[in-house]
Amino acid sequence: MTDVPTDPFRDDMLKGRVVFVSGGSSGVNLGVATRFAEKGAHVTLVSRTEEKLIAAADTITSAGGSADYAVADVRDAEAVRAALELCHERHGLIDVVLSGAAGNFLAPVNKLSSNGFRTVIDIDLIGTYNVLKHSYDLLRRPGAALISISAPQAVRPMAEQSHAGAAKAGINMLTKNLALEWGGEGIRVNAISPGYIANTEGTSRLIDTPEKSEALLRKIPVGRLGEKTEIADLALFLASDRAAYITGAIFDCDGGLTLN
Ligand code: COA
Repeated sequence: MTDVPTDPFRDDMLKGRVVFVSGGSSGVNLGVATRFAEKGAHVTLVSRTEEKLIAAADTITSAGGSADYAVADVRDAEAVRAALELCHERHGLIDVVLSGAAGNFLAPVNKLSSNGFRTVIDIDLIGTYNVLKHSYDLLRRPGAALISISAPQAVRPMAEQSHAGAAKAGINMLTKNLALEWGGEGIRVNAISPGYIANTEGTSRLIDTPEKSEALLRKIPVGRLGEKTEIADLALFLASDRAAYITGAIFDCDGGLTLN
């Protein structure tokens, strides 16, 4: 284990750590990457679209952080492996992996083709498998922290979300299995289940009318959407050595949504 900081949120708490973030060009994942870079980490952002990656990495470096990118579709195991190897060649052993790439849309089962269902399983579940599994040989051990991104629909059924619910439930169990298999080598694996987070594509895809927005706010015990920084702070803690005894856990960060 590397040295334990006295203040888990001090500015250099991730100094020199190498972080790989899939889905890192936008949303919650970019929020986490930005926060990690503020705390001294180098972040390699990975997604399908180079223009978005360039803009995201520029935003981080303009603020004084260290960021670069690799283009890969998480459905393509070889492309994922190449992106991880690029990160490793450039920056050394990988300390933290955030697997957050996801795809989603609202569709009732009767309007969803097998290919539509498979597409979300491929991006979310197989994509997480590809990222975490292929990171294994390149991780700093002991000490590596892997974080996957789940969702409330993994544990509570949600209309028009059979595909995402099944994929995210799979991610929860994959997270626990990897924690079990890799714990002895000093690799921790946890998941964060963000609820509805403001100003993200994920939320705007699911909450697409003012009526849905009002109904949703009534269901969230704290009465508001979450902020990207709130997911980032949880990820920061999980990535830090202060979370050294936490593995195989799924953390709801959803304002209490899943209680309802
Ligand atoms: N309702 C029902 N089926 C849908 C659909 C919808 N709204 N959107 C896509 N599909 C189906 C397509 O019809 C297709 O199935 P088919 O071949 O039987 O017609 C299948 O899903 C794949 O669609 P395609 O557009 O070819 O996939 P893609 O790989 O280009 O895109 C998506 C993947 C569909 C997930 C797309 O929404 C995406 O790229 N999303 C990324 C961003 C995102 O979702 N962000 C939120 C993250 S939480």
